Amino acid sequence: MSKEAVLQFYQFVLNSPALKDNFSAITGLPELIKLGAKYNYIFNQEDIAEASAIYAQKSSETEDKNGQIGLFKKTDADFSEKHSQFYHYEFKFSDVSGFEEIDQEIEKLKIKPSTVDMELYEKSFRDEDFNFASISPDSPEFKQQYDEIMKPCFDSKISLPEHEYTQRQFHLINLDLHVDHLLYEDYLMTKVRLVKLLEKLFGFEIKFSGSLWYPPNAYRLWHTNENQPGWRMYLIDFDEFESNSESQAFFRYMNPQTKELVTIEDKPKLIRFFKVEQEEDKLFWHCIVNATKFNRWSFGFLVSDDWMDNFLLRNSNKK
Ligand SMILES: [Fe+2]
Repeated sequence: MSKEAVLQFYQFVLNSPALKDNFSAITGLPELIKLGAKYNYIFNQEDIAEASAIYAQKSSETEDKNGQIGLFKKTDADFSEKHSQFYHYEFKFSDVSGFEEIDQEIEKLKIKPSTVDMELYEKSFRDEDFNFASISPDSPEFKQQYDEIMKPCFDSKISLPEHEYTQRQFHLINLDLHVDHLLYEDYLMTKVRLVKLLEKLFGFEIKFSGSLWYPPNAYRLWHTNENQPGWRMYLIDFDEFESNSESQAFFRYMNPQTKELVTIEDKPKLIRFFKVEQEEDKLFWHCIVNATKFNRWSFGFLVSDDWMDNFLLRNSNKK
């Protein structure tokens, strides 16, 4: 077990088209470790951390504390100037012709891994965190509460809880951190197929950035994703839905220019695009809450900066 095994595995991936497809479909460190082991490259999280520090100098590979892995080009400054007035775009699956096959694959990804301790998940719910979404990142009371919630992430002396859904800012299930259940192999193959279908349909390069299950009362608290700048595409769906219910599931963000809070209600079968920035005055603060009694899934992707040329213009007349 060593960082060399990680570097050799990266090299192996770069030289193997089939494995590159797998690499575009995985996001979590457990997924990377499992994929490496399948090809006899044995390494652990510490090895990856060491190897990533070396690899980052050679490529645009990044990794954060929650185990995100990314191989994607940085934001284009000209593009960002040109489109800075728009912060999000939404489409229904049905707006996009040829999306039926993708919809079928999404159905297969809406899993509930047996390795999730739902009792522990429910016990980790905190009212004050659930309500934190109503406090603007621009308000005076925000910082103190945010710092308190994020303490274990920012202070290396405090260890993060073992399960992601017991971290205060992350009361949801990151499907990609659960690789030891019976559905995982099929789940990974579905993700690989989905990336290929999306790339074919949209005509731009795509990489999975996260696969998240939001059970009832799940939330992802305010964050900026500034360590992975660029455009995101999320495919969102539910198991059931009541459109007239008072309890909503929503995506909320703060307009970086006006500081206004924008709340967009989630609905089944939705495609959402937004852009993550790294500069302090452009940070894209956002949060997600599922206050419904239904299960919500969202599948996130890093998409190239020219997605709009290939997708928005082609589909805008169908909106
Ligand atoms: Fe995010």
